[in-house]
Amino acid sequence: MAEAGSSRSDHCSGWRAWALQGGVKARGAIDSGAPRRWHAVLAMLMVSLLVRVEESKVWSQDLPKGNSCIECHRAIGDSRVTPPAEKFPQDIHLAKGILCQDCHGGDAATSEREGAMDPAKGFVGKPKRQAIPQLCGKCHSSADYMKKFNPTMRIDQVQQYFTSVHGRRLLAGDPKVATCISCHDVHRIRAVRDQQAWTYPAKVVDTCARCHADRQYLRGYKIATDVVDQYKASIHYETLTKKGDLSAPTCNVCHGNHGATPPNVDSVANVCGTCHSLTAEMFAKSPHQEAFASIGLAPCVTCHGNHDVMKTTDTMVGTDSKAVCVNCHDSDSEGYKKAAQIRASLDRLREEVQRATAILDRAEHAGMEVSQAKFELTGATDVLLKARAAVHQFDPTVVKTLTEEGILVASQANAKGVKALEDLRFRHRGLWISVVVILVAISGLVLKIKEIDRRGPRRGIKKL
Ligand code: HEC
Ligand code: HEC
Ligand code: HEC
Ligand code: HEC
Ligand code: HEC
Ligand code: HEC
Ligand code: HEC
Ligand code: HEC
Ligand code: HEC
Repeated sequence: MAEAGSSRSDHCSGWRAWALQGGVKARGAIDSGAPRRWHAVLAMLMVSLLVRVEESKVWSQDLPKGNSCIECHRAIGDSRVTPPAEKFPQDIHLAKGILCQDCHGGDAATSEREGAMDPAKGFVGKPKRQAIPQLCGKCHSSADYMKKFNPTMRIDQVQQYFTSVHGRRLLAGDPKVATCISCHDVHRIRAVRDQQAWTYPAKVVDTCARCHADRQYLRGYKIATDVVDQYKASIHYETLTKKGDLSAPTCNVCHGNHGATPPNVDSVANVCGTCHSLTAEMFAKSPHQEAFASIGLAPCVTCHGNHDVMKTTDTMVGTDSKAVCVNCHDSDSEGYKKAAQIRASLDRLREEVQRATAILDRAEHAGMEVSQAKFELTGATDVLLKARAAVHQFDPTVVKTLTEEGILVASQANAKGVKALEDLRFRHRGLWISVVVILVAISGLVLKIKEIDRRGPRRGIKKL
């Protein structure tokens, strides 16, 4: 593979794509024929456009005049040496006033090639792959230098990088591992949180996938090549991409940006607890903590997997074939019995909540006021969530204490639903009685009127 850097084609001008989208939306609004909304949409469009122009200022900067490297490289029209100059307007370094010669050396004030690209003037040309970390580190590892631009910027990327498998193997002479520019691009390096950056959370998967999903590229290495496919099937990826929830982990969140692991994590296998801290605390109190450690099993990934973490259900615990417990516990073991007990408690609470929900829904449908009872029932649902997390203590009494509490709440809500339906029945009965009484009264009246009609002429009203 050529350096992954140069061949990504998703750089069509962001605002233009956006304007197209916005355009479609705006047209929809015009079609709907509401002139006021049309104006509002137009105004919003203008404001957003201004914001976009403001944002894109950095990225579509004019290249400085009088820099011979840029001027000559743009003019050459060569497929290898021209692209660096063409991509450069979108590079964060240009925005900070850093130019070609700051990385490559040479003399940007001289317009002929030999003079400009003179090794005597520090010109180093295209760096070797192995030399790239040091090249970036020239500035990025220097506190004094970085301080002038951004005092909060970390300066440990290079140092960390050499603790990772990538860095260690690069030192050992393997050029196929990721270097700085495999993850950050080159000549179009963007701020790491720029939505177009290769390091932007939703884009990292593609960045790693360029090597880690490429069987051909990784032939000869003893690592799995299905990690990306597996991750893309996970609840984490779904949460990140479908819900746009950036708190769900992508590759670098678990594996670290530069180092072997993220800060404060001793092993990647223990990374889950950085987010699922409550669950991790419970696991630490469980009999599995010791048992797993003694046979070298990782705490969370043993049951949940590492890349293909799925949404969980109560069927995961118990003694049927879908439960993970039976992978290790025989039917005569303590763990097996306790697994069955834990599941029974969860099932009872879940069924109780379902029962109460159903009856309250029916009552509500029939027009009864049950919002208070419905609100109280959410208390039982919360307890069910807590009980599911408490499974990680693998102690049936802990789970049962919780579920009993929830069952009480749910059965009270259920009783309110039952009462509401009884009230409804009572009202219906009352209604029917009233109807019958009214009917009787009406027929009595009708009879009376008929009788009066019959008696009328006999009273001797004179016929004319
Ligand atoms: C007058 C034109 C001209 C000027 C000025 C010029 N270059 Fe070049 N540069 C070229 C050409 C042509 C090549 C490709 C042929 C070669 O490698 O010599 C090249 C190649 C390069 C390469 C790739 C070298 C390699 O090892 O493959 C780098 C890096 C480079 N230039 C950087 C610079 C920098 C930095 C400056 C300014 C200090 C600069 N150039 C000024 C014309 C120019
Ligand atoms: C932040 C540092 C940095 C800056 C600034 C920079 N380069 Fe580079 N340049 C690199 C690195 C790193 C490589 C090696 C890329 C690789 O291995 O694929 C490179 C490679 C090149 C190459 C060789 C491309 C190839 O595929 O063989 C040329 C030509 C070049 N740069 C020209 C320029 C020009 C012109 C500018 C200014 C517009 C510039 N560079 C600015 C870091 C930089
Ligand atoms: C395997 C991919 C990868 C490699 C290799 C890599 N980076 Fe990064 N880098 C990232 C990610 C991901 C981020 C952080 C994104 C975020 O904060 O969301 C990052 C962040 C950064 C930042 C912003 C400050 C910070 O530390 O968060 C700088 C500067 C940086 N990297 C420079 C480098 C340099 C220099 C190298 C080479 C020694 C390098 N990176 C190698 C992926 C990588
Ligand atoms: C000549 C000094 C210099 C060199 C060499 C250099 N950088 Fe930078 N880099 C900077 C400065 C200055 C900034 C802007 C810091 C700021 O103001 O936040 C920056 C910013 C960055 C950022 C954006 C960080 C953020 O805030 O999101 C990344 C990523 C980055 N550089 C990667 C690299 C990589 C990769 C290389 C090597 C190919 C490299 N840099 C080489 C000086 C340099
Ligand atoms: C330029 C190609 C390339 C890119 C891009 C890349 N890697 Fe790698 N990665 C490799 C190669 C090659 C190895 C070495 C495999 C080995 O020797 O075990 C490796 C090793 C690793 C390992 C160590 C595997 C092990 O246990 O030995 C991890 C973890 C890893 N990469 C994660 C990532 C992540 C996360 C990203 C994206 C942020 C990424 N890589 C981007 C090529 C790449
Ligand atoms: C939720 C955390 C998490 C996420 C997200 C994640 N990984 Fe992993 N990854 C792990 C764990 C845990 C291991 C196993 C480490 C161990 O056994 O020491 C691992 C192992 C690996 C390995 C080594 C596989 C082998 O066969 O040795 C590679 C390569 C890797 N991950 C790459 C990636 C890439 C690429 C992504 C993004 C597509 C990714 N990981 C996302 C946690 C994660
Ligand atoms: C960066 C934070 C983060 C890390 C690290 C992380 N997760 Fe998650 N995890 C989330 C988020 C966010 C969700 C989705 C929201 C939710 O349902 O809790 C989630 C969902 C889950 C779910 C599904 C929960 C359900 O409701 O069924 C499981 C299981 C899970 N993660 C296990 C793991 C394991 C195992 C690891 C380590 C290999 C891990 N997580 C690492 C943040 C993280
Ligand atoms: C990867 C294997 C493995 C899996 C999967 C597993 N366990 Fe265990 N479990 C063990 C080991 C090993 C021990 C300690 C030895 C023992 O008591 O059998 C243990 C112990 C226990 C204990 C303590 C037994 C006692 O003596 O009181 C309970 C309870 C338990 N497990 C419940 C579960 C439940 C519930 C599940 C499913 C959610 C489960 N286990 C899944 C391996 C496993
Ligand atoms: C022995 C197997 C096992 C181990 C080890 C294990 N889990 Fe679980 N996990 C389960 C089971 C079973 C469920 C489903 C509980 C339910 O829904 O009734 C579950 C559910 C979850 C959930 C969703 C419910 C909740 O708590 O919000 C998350 C998140 C989770 N586990 C994270 C972790 C983390 C993090 C670790 C490591 C500290 C871990 N698990 C270790 C078996 C395990």
